[in-house]
Amino acid sequence: MASISALTAAARRLEGKVALITGGASGIGEYTAELFTKHGAKVMIADIQDDLGQSVCKNLGPSVASYIHCDVTNEAHVQNAVDSTVAKYEKLDIMFNNAGIAGSYPKLNILDITQSEFEEIIKVNLIGPFLGTKHAARVMIPAKQGSIITTASTCSVIGGGAPHAYTSSKHGIVGLTRNTAVELGKYGIRVNCVSPHVISTPLVKNFLKLDDEGVSKFYSNLKGASCKVEDVANAALFLASDDSKFISGHNLVVDGGFTIMNPGFCMFE
Ligand SMILES: NC(=O)c1ccc[n+]([C@@H]2O[C@H](COP(=O)([O-])OP(=O)(O)OC[C@H]3O[C@@H](n4cnc5c(N)ncnc54)[C@H](O)[C@@H]3O)[C@@H](O)[C@H]2O)c1
Repeated sequence: MASISALTAAARRLEGKVALITGGASGIGEYTAELFTKHGAKVMIADIQDDLGQSVCKNLGPSVASYIHCDVTNEAHVQNAVDSTVAKYEKLDIMFNNAGIAGSYPKLNILDITQSEFEEIIKVNLIGPFLGTKHAARVMIPAKQGSIITTASTCSVIGGGAPHAYTSSKHGIVGLTRNTAVELGKYGIRVNCVSPHVISTPLVKNFLKLDDEGVSKFYSNLKGASCKVEDVANAALFLASDDSKFISGHNLVVDGGFTIMNPGFCMFE
């Protein structure tokens, strides 16, 4: 993971902003929390891995980062995370619905998947962002501004890249994003999602039973490159900042061109 150096005031793109990041104790969320603070934001990290989340905040510094226990499938927790952010930092400018799970090792046959296994993924990956979007909107509407971002996946635009529940949850995020972008635009609130390709994080390594090297060998359309947490964090930074002030309802795919190619017909091999 690349380290982030200090930025000059002029280079900071989130100066004075406040962000709530779910799933901020690990992987994409952890790196994004660091990037956002380097760009001048105060961040509240919401997760269920309390020790990890607290240690991330300690490293970032108590003046810029706080931790709150929050299971994104529990509406009271999400409501409390939003209200605690506003109580501590006086507002909420950026909601990053990033927490997600892939489940245990892939069951690919629909006949084998139980209802409860399917629901478990949908609860975290889709109900979680619904609750995060709802409660962020509750405090952003009176403020008449805000940026809501959800981590989807390349599985939001293709079939066959992951088991059924994961793919369904990530397609669902695109629908939730588009609907709320249309609804909340009249309040000046932008709603977008970001869709990463495969990255070596605990989620992927546990799911695919691969190490960093194994994950880095996943197909990329860009020679020698594989997707990194910083690529997604930089996309989230763009969507969070005023640089994207006219962008709403967008699914920003961060895949080096992976999903635009159909290997069944390609002239350029
Ligand atoms: N790593 C990839 O290849 C990849 C690709 C596309 C999309 N994504 C998405 O990126 C997001 C972040 O995943 P990551 O790869 O950084 O994995 P990660 O496992 O490193 O981080 C996910 C975080 O979410 C937290 N979390 C899980 N369930 C939660 C719950 N119920 N409430 C609150 N927090 C919860 C975990 O504790 C963890 O800290 C997920 O939405 C994932 O689906 C990841």
